[in-house]
Amino acid sequence: KADQVGGETKVDRLRNLYQTFHACQACALGTTRNRFVFGEGDPEASLMFIGEGPGRDEDMAGRPFVGAAGQLLNRIIEAMGFRRDQVFIANVVKCRPPQNRKPLPDETSACTPILVKQIEFVNPKIIVALGATPFCFLKGQNVSIMRHRGQFFKWRDYRVMPTFHPAYILRNPVSKRDVWDDMKKVLAELKKS
Ligand code: URA
Repeated sequence: KADQVGGETKVDRLRNLYQTFHACQACALGTTRNRFVFGEGDPEASLMFIGEGPGRDEDMAGRPFVGAAGQLLNRIIEAMGFRRDQVFIANVVKCRPPQNRKPLPDETSACTPILVKQIEFVNPKIIVALGATPFCFLKGQNVSIMRHRGQFFKWRDYRVMPTFHPAYILRNPVSKRDVWDDMKKVLAELKKS
């Protein structure tokens, strides 16, 4: 079957990955989090969204993007013609940084194996990096989201579109138009493949 990799389905692989890491204590966030937020969505998704890390609502719910930024992300996904459960949504770090500060480098590196495996298992056609944290993570360097949003780049063999984080759009509503321009490029690229 198309969704089988080495005898295991993608669902099996994601489930095993969750089982391996759900009680992770590899960095200090393991001691302050309420819930480990693995990510969710269609293991066969052609589109994957990557955010920064869980906020307060996500830390309580154990699910990504369920707060105000998540509601906006849902609307973006729906405007693109998808249901939320047809895409895959994950974060760079799986545990909430205290006071929603940006994840520290050691926290990001502790979480890297999980995100890399999620990308490999889902194997999306396009990844949308929501904001500077996933953008810099996938670029492997400190780069400006302001300067580079809207321009595809490659992480390994994956096409990645960097755009603004929905929380940024909530603070700067005029940026919504830019994000929609970026998502139209994603849709055009998805149609080609
Ligand atoms: N912001 C993120 O980057 N991720 C979430 O899951 C929620 C808010």
